[in-house]
Amino acid sequence: MNKKKLFKIINNDCLKFKDKIKDYELLILDPPFDQWDKVPKFCNKTILCFTNFQNREKITDIYGTPKIEIIWHFKDGRWVSHNFPRLTHENILIYGKTDNAFVGETNINTPIKKGKGHIGKTKMQERIYYPKEKKQLNSVLEYPRNVQTGVWSKPKALINDLINFINPSSVCDPFMGSGVVAELCAEYNINYLGIEKDKTIFLNTENKLNKIFNQLDFFLEKQYVHE
Ligand SMILES: C[S@@+](CC[C@H](N)C(=O)[O-])C[C@H]1O[C@@H](n2cnc3c(N)ncnc32)[C@H](O)[C@@H]1O
Repeated sequence: MNKKKLFKIINNDCLKFKDKIKDYELLILDPPFDQWDKVPKFCNKTILCFTNFQNREKITDIYGTPKIEIIWHFKDGRWVSHNFPRLTHENILIYGKTDNAFVGETNINTPIKKGKGHIGKTKMQERIYYPKEKKQLNSVLEYPRNVQTGVWSKPKALINDLINFINPSSVCDPFMGSGVVAELCAEYNINYLGIEKDKTIFLNTENKLNKIFNQLDFFLEKQYVHE
């Protein structure tokens, strides 16, 4: 029997819930990038930070060098100025525990010709290496950008790769936005806490999640808190 997990979303300022946030295994930090300096230091088992190159240092000043940096590449980039390259990537810094990286796309397993070796004086025949077909997460992940319910949200496929890579038993998402992480946690039956300060965004997300939940075999206990 699948055990019921808690799925909770709160409409409030996440900075008031520092004590609750620390109880979750994976903390996903996706604040507006220019507000990174307002985010306090947390000590969760795994911390995943979304940022861009301008604000990256604010994170490394707090947490140091990440265990892994993943680049999210999107072809539909942003024009910033005539004197600047079009921005087509953001940075994802990961700290703490991760699981195995057999996620994402399956590797191409084209046979590779190896050199003709020899044993003593005997020349060997032409040798071919057949790599095993397996999934392997890439350090650059390419997914198009995604606007949902008025928020620039992360693509679901990108978050899916990251959740599979980290494989957490509970997730806190204090800058919930459009609830992409929430959706995946509901699908995977993971304990979840989402917090969103903006009332309009919160209500849109709540609405969207309700529609999704109606189609799911729901094993999570739901709590929606309007504070
Ligand atoms: C970059 S968006 C997050 C997008 C989200 N990861 C998604 O994929 O939809 C940042 C969100 O954090 C919210 N926010 C900003 N400051 C906050 C705070 N102190 N507490 C809770 N939410 C906050 C904003 O309203 C915005 O919706």
